[in-house]
Amino acid sequence: MSLSEFASFCKKKGFFYPSSEIYGGLSGFYDYGHLGTRLKHNFENIWRKYFLSLDDNYHEIETANIMHSNVFKASGHLDHFIDPIVNCSKCDFADRADHVLEKALNKRAEGISSEQLTQEIKKNKLNCPRCGSLFKPVSVMNMMFPLTIGVGKTTQAYLRPETAQSPYVNFKLQYELLRNKLPLGLALIGRAYRNEISPRNLILRQREFTQAELQIFFNPAKITEHKHFDLIQNYKLKALLIEDRKGDLAVERTAGELVKLGLPKFYVYHLVKIQQFYFDILKIPENKFRLYQLNDQEKAFYNKYHFDLELGLNDVGWTEVGGLHYRTDHDLSGHQNVSKENMNVFDEESGQKLIPHVLELSFGVDRNVYALLDLNYEDNKERGNVILHLPEDLAPYGYAFFPLVKNNPELLAKAERVYRLFSGHDCYFDVSGSVGRRYARADEMGVNYCITIDFDSLQDDSVTIRDRDTTKQVRVKIEDLKTDLMLLMAGQRKFEELGKQIR
Ligand code: GAP
Repeated sequence: MSLSEFASFCKKKGFFYPSSEIYGGLSGFYDYGHLGTRLKHNFENIWRKYFLSLDDNYHEIETANIMHSNVFKASGHLDHFIDPIVNCSKCDFADRADHVLEKALNKRAEGISSEQLTQEIKKNKLNCPRCGSLFKPVSVMNMMFPLTIGVGKTTQAYLRPETAQSPYVNFKLQYELLRNKLPLGLALIGRAYRNEISPRNLILRQREFTQAELQIFFNPAKITEHKHFDLIQNYKLKALLIEDRKGDLAVERTAGELVKLGLPKFYVYHLVKIQQFYFDILKIPENKFRLYQLNDQEKAFYNKYHFDLELGLNDVGWTEVGGLHYRTDHDLSGHQNVSKENMNVFDEESGQKLIPHVLELSFGVDRNVYALLDLNYEDNKERGNVILHLPEDLAPYGYAFFPLVKNNPELLAKAERVYRLFSGHDCYFDVSGSVGRRYARADEMGVNYCITIDFDSLQDDSVTIRDRDTTKQVRVKIEDLKTDLMLLMAGQRKFEELGKQIR
């Protein structure tokens, strides 16, 4: 499936499509339709449930998207949140310089200085792809969107380029409100804005996007320990360390081995929790996941340790969908310097006053939604339709209810009664077209189970459940249906164990 085929599928089904499209669209902005919104919310809810339950002292906050300019002076974004740009010397073509080089040489060029990029572009004789002219020397561009607020005496502000700064400026107050305990986790799911030089690949690189980030504030002296490390020390991680760079393949190493190689236990524990999230909850195939360690040149300016979470996507290849960032006290100290708010706090456990360090678990929601669609997409020639193999809890709808025909009032009334038993759950009712057509539509939406109410149902008070992935069917009593489906969705009952097998 090509990117354009995927884009047209996502639009046709109501997952996502370009924003402001009736006016020709706006590059780097996308809207989610009725199915995409459900999928995105399901991802966010699963993310919340999983990461907030890692510790009793992790909490979610909701904050403003527009922030004071001093926030970004303190965080370093005003000076360092820049991307290298190449402009054509003749036409108006412009692109990210590292992307131009990556495309031409088929290797990563992230983090290379502007001077080096200029030299490499010259050395490799790369010219403007539009008119063939020479490029100008590489320059840099700050990626934040500035705003002017108010009338008369105006205030300079910015749309936040990452959600992370909001928990940092909230930290002191929340620490006190939550009774002075470390580690403290502040999670936030919200919008981030970046004036990307070259938005591309649908929702993978946008100018407005959603992040789900957890900032863990902890005592830096405790980075070498985690109270549950013993439970995961033999867990095998799929990591591509800097020293493994010759190939594309991640090497399996236990959590304990990574600690021996110099990574702190607190950091490695969270690498494990992230990988388990992808394998156990999102059900991402193991060969499509890797933890990619960044070197000093590639790391974000605020990070001491930095692994990207990468997924092997169709057509676009390995793609960063998140990261685990050890940001030290970079941000809190920066905010202390600029705001003059003292970020030293009293840690009751150690009896010390300290500026906490931050471990950031960062995820791009849109990139994860894209990956879930991409990796679960199957164009099934035998069935003649697409199947979205989305796991339970993620699929936009768990169930669909189909009366066999729509012109029999008794059958329709019975089907509606069964459907109403589920109102408030993730389900819909569909009467239009043949049952086969309705199954195909449901497959393309990723519906886990279809429930058909037929003429026999009028006699035996039973219905048929059809499994999306296998098309197997079982006949169950209406009185058992709710419990059976709940157990199926929770993975506590196998499909084959329900009612009477039909085929
Ligand atoms: N707070 C840390 C931070 O913002 P980042 O690596 O710049 O780190 C985190 O961004 C995640 O946000 C990325 O891993 C990616 O999934 C997502 N992301 C970044 N830029 C994006 C863009 N232009 N469009 C969509 N998602 C993006």
